[in-house]
Amino acid sequence: MLRFFQNFKTNGHSTDEPEHLIELRKVVKAYKTDAGDFLALKGIDLTIGAGEFVGIIGKSGSGKSTLINMLTGIDRPTSGEIYINKTGIHRFDEGQMARWRGRNQGVIFQFFQLLPTLTVIENVMLPMDFCNMYTPRQRQERAMHLLDLVDVAQQAHKLPSQISGGQQQRVAIARALANDPPMIMADEPTGNLDSRTARQVFNLFEKLVAEGKTFLMVTHDDDLARRVTRTIVIADGEIVNEWLVKALPTLSQEMLVKVTRQLQTQTFGPGEPIILQDTEPDNFYIITKGTVHVYLDRPNGREIYVEALEPGQFFGEMALLTGGTRRASVRAARENSVEVAALGREAFFELINESEETHEALQDVVAQRSQNIEQLV
Ligand SMILES: Nc1ncnc2c1ncn2[C@@H]1O[C@H](COP(=O)(O)OP(=O)(O)OP(=O)(O)O)[C@@H](O)[C@H]1O
Ligand SMILES: [Mg+2]
Repeated sequence: MLRFFQNFKTNGHSTDEPEHLIELRKVVKAYKTDAGDFLALKGIDLTIGAGEFVGIIGKSGSGKSTLINMLTGIDRPTSGEIYINKTGIHRFDEGQMARWRGRNQGVIFQFFQLLPTLTVIENVMLPMDFCNMYTPRQRQERAMHLLDLVDVAQQAHKLPSQISGGQQQRVAIARALANDPPMIMADEPTGNLDSRTARQVFNLFEKLVAEGKTFLMVTHDDDLARRVTRTIVIADGEIVNEWLVKALPTLSQEMLVKVTRQLQTQTFGPGEPIILQDTEPDNFYIITKGTVHVYLDRPNGREIYVEALEPGQFFGEMALLTGGTRRASVRAARENSVEVAALGREAFFELINESEETHEALQDVVAQRSQNIEQLV
């Protein structure tokens, strides 16, 4: 019986055991420069689930490639932990890393990085040879099949220098798929392709995701960035709060970064009040975990339930925008703890001054919610 419980415990999720396919914990990367250490990643916390199609965007020099290089183990963090499939890859030495990567990840670079002295098909067979996957005969067939998939089978016996950039990138994609890895990491894979070729390559990526692969892609291309299922914005080595991006999508990248730094995480136990009706407003709140319930307190001590709000939704904007005291009470739902990102009132007013679009969007929400409340009382 005891054994049963022990097994049960290891199968369940303790707080320390990684729950997600990919987990980064406080990852710091410092590059040594003549002027001293340069912090390219400033303590990144990030989780990515299996099957996600993630776009990583941000200005030049913001740390996108550094982040991808941490995830592929091409470079190592200065401190922090990186778990992939519950394996701490930050603990691997070079050899372990290369073997692990060969089986688990396909990597696509901006400048293709094909071996110039090997033919196209030999480049695609290389990862299979390296990891000793498939029989030699199967390797040949599989490489041909993958080249066919990306439409360059005709070029199989040429050298990389004898084909175009777009074709080289397709070969690099075929190579990334060689060992049928569950994850693909790509650093600006369409950066050196014309827009038509970029779209075709992207269509192929979507197909791979539909087949169940997890895909992380750094991109400068806004059109492509809009087609992924999750966008991570990185700025100056920090990740912008994704719930903020969801809640206030009209904020500029600069504002997202600024506001992210101003947000304060607060947690509330099940049923615990977060704001009370008829009190002075202090913060604006974005829900980052759990469900909250909104209530009206009536003079007779009765409560009227208004609605439930979920992560990515916000509250606390009404009194701040219209003046006066809080219009409703909000508390953590009885079933869960809640985590919110709180923005102080001064920072909130700065925000709406900076972004007219966001101000208008918030006003629309206030109008909708006021109407809702009037109908209930
Ligand atoms: N080997 C290195 N030594 C010192 N500084 C580096 C090194 N590699 C990168 N950096 C610095 O770290 C920061 C992040 O670089 P990184 O290459 O990750 O940016 P990026 O977001 O990929 O930019 P881009 O869009 O131009 O590719 C930059 O300021 C860069 O100058
Ligand atoms: Mg880069």
